[in-house]
Amino acid sequence: ALSTHPPKFAVRGRFVHANARRAGLIEFVEDGLIVVEDGAIIAVAKDADQIKAVLAEHRPQDVVELAETEFLAPGMVDCHVHAPQYAYSGTATDKPLMEWLQHYTFPAEKRCVDVDYAKTLYSALVDRLLMQGTTCVALYATIHVPATNALVDICLEKGLRAVVGKVCMDRHGGDGYEETTAEALAGTRACLDYIRKAQPGASGLSRLVQPCVIPRFIPTCTPELLAGLGDIARESDDVWVQSHASEAPDQVKFVDTLHPGKRCTEIFESHGLLTDKCVMAHCVYLEDGELDTFARKGAGVACCPLSNAIFSLSPGWHAFPFHKAHAKGVRVGMGTDIAGGYAASILVACRHAAVASKHDMGEKDVDYKDAFWAATLGGARALGLDTVLGNFEVGKQFDAVRINCEAGNYDTFPSAIHPCCPSRLEHDFEKFVNLGDDRNIASVYVQGKRRR
Ligand code: GUN
Ligand code: FE
Repeated sequence: ALSTHPPKFAVRGRFVHANARRAGLIEFVEDGLIVVEDGAIIAVAKDADQIKAVLAEHRPQDVVELAETEFLAPGMVDCHVHAPQYAYSGTATDKPLMEWLQHYTFPAEKRCVDVDYAKTLYSALVDRLLMQGTTCVALYATIHVPATNALVDICLEKGLRAVVGKVCMDRHGGDGYEETTAEALAGTRACLDYIRKAQPGASGLSRLVQPCVIPRFIPTCTPELLAGLGDIARESDDVWVQSHASEAPDQVKFVDTLHPGKRCTEIFESHGLLTDKCVMAHCVYLEDGELDTFARKGAGVACCPLSNAIFSLSPGWHAFPFHKAHAKGVRVGMGTDIAGGYAASILVACRHAAVASKHDMGEKDVDYKDAFWAATLGGARALGLDTVLGNFEVGKQFDAVRINCEAGNYDTFPSAIHPCCPSRLEHDFEKFVNLGDDRNIASVYVQGKRRR
């Protein structure tokens, strides 16, 4: 069984987090203390004197002492996951996007008409995400209302913070995986209500699971469906929007045949779907003006480099312009895009972002600090949840991972740390981002509660 803590406890030891809006700025604290009460961070100390004062003032009922080979980091945020696709993650890497959807995705998602099948799959996925240190995730379910609601229940039960919605598609679904416009809209309303009612004590940002509308992407949604979902998003201020934009050459071309001369951004915007509670996956081929529109609207991007590489490696390929978008004020987070990206780990997404940026000669490199920033505070901002999570600031929720540097896939040689490395903590952090996996995740907290 997992250890439980009293309502007011503290963690003492090394910690690492992003503490600024600028990508890549990471703070390293060698001797820190974080005091948690009822799931929220109520005090943070960053040196021995501050620790003494904070302990005297707040008197936590228990202090967890980290070993010198451990450090604490914020829980990671995965801004784009397709829950039903977890069934075939690690396979199906051989087709361009539009063929991949028809051949693999729609038949696999259709199976979630069977709620028991969906429950088994979704439980395994939620366990897997928590195990990887992901504490907040933007999830797509399928077109099915019962299975979407089951996904909500599983997140609540296992304590994974999430934005969850029913996928909507009223045209161009293959294998009969489609619904009518009316079914999509009524189903969406039913799921939004289910999510609200499933959390009777909570409202707004205090909910663990946030309700979301999901027009799958422009090719599978009629203008009537887009407009209807835009209306639903506008009606209440507790509704998120997720979709895909400018993802792959074959998809961009298809959008142009359906809406001649128009691009994804303009179409989403004109239907009320580009809001400050929206996160669009990919956005690789957005033009500069479209990035400006994202910034003006406060819309977020889920950067999903692994699936981009799998779907978009073709002449004219480039990576998501991370630094350009960030400099324009676009909110950028990281996404795995299970199963377009086959790995459930956001650390793997960080590594792919760094490598992809090195292939892309026109753009500034994304380094491990930029990527980790995007995987934590950046992701929280992209989801519009940065007042709630993303780093260790007083007032935010204690969503955190305890990292063991002496496990898993690599060895550390404290006596052999390179003289150029500023500190052992920076060394341990870089190694974790580049080589770490679930074996290094010793425990996981969401809302101050142990979940792993
Ligand atoms: N575009 C529309 N649907 C999907 C999907 O399921 N995965 C990815 N990667 N892109 C999409
Ligand atoms: Fe996707």
